[in-house]
Amino acid sequence: MPVNLQQPWSIGGVEVPTRIVLAPMAGVSIQAFRRQGRRFGAGLVCSEMVSAAGIEHRNERTFGYLRVAADEHPLAIQIFGADPPAMAARMVEAAGADIVDMNFGCPVRKVTKTGAGAHLMEDPALACRVMEAVAGAVDVPVTVKMRRGVANGSRACLELGPQLVGAGAAALTLHPRSAQQMYTGEADHAVTAELVERVGVPVIASGDITSRTQALAVLEQTGAAAVMVARGAQGNPWALREIAEGEAFRPAREEVAAELVVFIREAVRELGEQRAVGFLKKFYGWYLGHGRFPKPFKQELVQLRTTEEVVTRLFAAAPGAAPIVERLEAELPTAEDEVLLDALPISVYGGG
Ligand SMILES: Cc1cc2nc3c(=O)[nH]c(=O)nc-3n(C[C@H](O)[C@H](O)[C@H](O)COP(=O)(O)O)c2cc1C
Repeated sequence: MPVNLQQPWSIGGVEVPTRIVLAPMAGVSIQAFRRQGRRFGAGLVCSEMVSAAGIEHRNERTFGYLRVAADEHPLAIQIFGADPPAMAARMVEAAGADIVDMNFGCPVRKVTKTGAGAHLMEDPALACRVMEAVAGAVDVPVTVKMRRGVANGSRACLELGPQLVGAGAAALTLHPRSAQQMYTGEADHAVTAELVERVGVPVIASGDITSRTQALAVLEQTGAAAVMVARGAQGNPWALREIAEGEAFRPAREEVAAELVVFIREAVRELGEQRAVGFLKKFYGWYLGHGRFPKPFKQELVQLRTTEEVVTRLFAAAPGAAPIVERLEAELPTAEDEVLLDALPISVYGGG
């Protein structure tokens, strides 16, 4: 029987309204991205990985990652750290996370050399100590996101997964590539199916899911509770809608421009103009590609010095976007609905 992607499910006591999870992506999953993901059908959204040490040391920029808006829930905040990050988990819970997700999959050396990320896949005893400490520190469910292992062909996740559940994990996400593979080759969801067999908690399947056909096939093949979408949603929230609702959807130019304008304005509010200018450049290509706008248009946007100029150019290229932006912005909760950590330095949200 085909799986119903709109059927609610739960992680611990947290109800998730659809079977589509928007992935954590460093340098991408800012609040604007997560709120948009919820609007387009993701049942659960996740922050990018946040350094536990950065949280504990009240690093100003790290704290900026902990903004939680009223329309994001349910929201997972992902942390990484190998010094059992119990205090960081408590702070993340206080910031309003419904779920604390632990990153045991990051293959980047900057992270693994500290003993965190994918390194933990090779040290099950430490991984379980980290898991136990975090699960014991917070009342919200704690979940783990893993790769299949470090070396190509590794099946470490199949041994570690059940141990993590024994140590308190309320759900597991598996991206079944090795850390060595980075993003090459294919995600091997036969491994996901084996993990599902071995644990009694929900498993989320991550890797190479960009369409409804793939989502349904992976759910059927693996018995996973949900699918996670990462690269497929970059500049393309319509992929989430297609997966959620079934109809292939080609957005009109006006709608693309409008979503991008709202995203730009939200990013500026969140990051400040100076950081937003650089952060947004990759999004122009992602949004305007897919044959939606001629290629030179993207080149033109990345040259502009302020986001105001970019917005002006987008409205000129797609005049019908303005009323859509107005409607979308009217529907967004205002910044006052945001929960921020009490100690958050005011300068972080100086943009309003
Ligand atoms: C730019 C980028 C940043 C990522 N950052 C994170 C991260 O912070 N935490 C994490 O657990 N996974 C991260 N991932 C991995 C994704 O969450 C996902 O597991 C992976 O991209 C496979 O899914 P996909 O084929 O749908 O892209 C990142 C992936 C990309 C492309």
